[in-house]
Amino acid sequence: MNRNKSRILFGIVGLLAGALGADMSIAAGTSPELQQAQALFKPLPANMGTAEFPVTPERVALGRALFFDPRPSLDGTVSCARCHQPALYGTDALPLPIGVKDRANPRNSPTVLNAAQEFAAHWRGDRINVEDQATKALIGPPSFGQPDFATAMAKIEAIQGYPAMFKQAFPNDKNPVTAENWGKAIGAYERTLVTPAPFDAYLKGNIKALSPAALSGLQKFISTGCASCHNGVGVGGGMYQKFGLVEDYWKETGSKKIDTGRFDVTKNPADMYVFKVPSLRNVAMTAPYFHDGSVATLPEAVRVMGQVQLGKKLDSKDIEEIVAFLNSLTGTLPKNFSTVPTLPPGAFQAAK
Ligand code: HEC
Ligand code: HEC
Repeated sequence: MNRNKSRILFGIVGLLAGALGADMSIAAGTSPELQQAQALFKPLPANMGTAEFPVTPERVALGRALFFDPRPSLDGTVSCARCHQPALYGTDALPLPIGVKDRANPRNSPTVLNAAQEFAAHWRGDRINVEDQATKALIGPPSFGQPDFATAMAKIEAIQGYPAMFKQAFPNDKNPVTAENWGKAIGAYERTLVTPAPFDAYLKGNIKALSPAALSGLQKFISTGCASCHNGVGVGGGMYQKFGLVEDYWKETGSKKIDTGRFDVTKNPADMYVFKVPSLRNVAMTAPYFHDGSVATLPEAVRVMGQVQLGKKLDSKDIEEIVAFLNSLTGTLPKNFSTVPTLPPGAFQAAK
């Protein structure tokens, strides 16, 4: 079938869909480029809840309050939102974040947006999922800095209002104020933090959702080989890979400290300099880049990737087009993230 005939056919299908009251933004058409993209990437789901980790309104409300509350931390200054700020798309714009008692973190803050659908959490995959991540943050020395879970949970229990919220969120638990439930509640909230973008509209069939520059960039992203690692729902977030396949990464990033990556977690020599392939959703909003925040701008990060992962010198036009595609991955912030919750009132209580 030639292109004109297929266009006419899709026109008829479109008219029929319109007559039946179908959603035209979904049934708008297709193209070989779109089919190729649909084979490599998937649109975001409405939320990231699972049977094991359901998104119930009570858990989400509790988790949202806890996410913004600094009082469970050792010195009362650290909430999740300190390093994952809504106004900065769930990051903090620092190469390396500062946590409790001004302690520096060893790695850059990734965004919490869409993070729950990734196959593992943290740059080196040393957390199973968002629930595990949130629970362990309570006792992370440069994070909340609590000596143990009991101390952390006692602080939360002492804030009037929280015990009842935990009871509502976990009605079957006798003592619901636990570190595990803290993780499950914050995890439920994070599982609602989905940011549908123009690229999702495109994948769902709205072939006009991407600008011509973004479309060329998508083609370049695929033909250059970026999508062999950055693919799926997250355009990344689905596998581990060595950073610096072709050339040592620090020669291009200028990293001062060399992080051996997943090797430190597994002690397996094959995991030397291996990191999680990060999701590129909202990447235009989450500078600086890489596990150590060593690169400040997106065009430079794209150049480094071409060089150290693929052995390709991308020229400025290639980079510009790829960045135009990456811009189409910037989604709308969910309302329950771009606005703040009201927390149960009360002063921070220092440890005695
Ligand atoms: C002091 C800054 C800081 C605080 C506070 C903090 N985080 Fe993070 N967060 C980070 C850093 C840094 C990483 C990456 C750590 C690594 O890979 O070693 C991270 C990673 C994550 C990830 C994994 C994202 C991914 O792509 O792998 C999630 C989810 C997350 N944090 C959520 C939270 C939640 C929920 C809280 C509160 C319970 C929290 N963070 C508190 C800095 C912080
Ligand atoms: C062989 C796998 C692989 C290929 C191919 C690849 N990447 Fe990456 N990408 C990674 C890994 C691993 C990282 C994380 C590096 C680190 O530790 O900071 C990354 C990080 C990035 C980042 C930084 C994201 C952030 O949040 O800091 C961008 C942007 C990026 N890649 C874009 C691209 C582009 C564009 C291409 C094609 C030119 C590409 N990548 C090709 C594996 C790959």
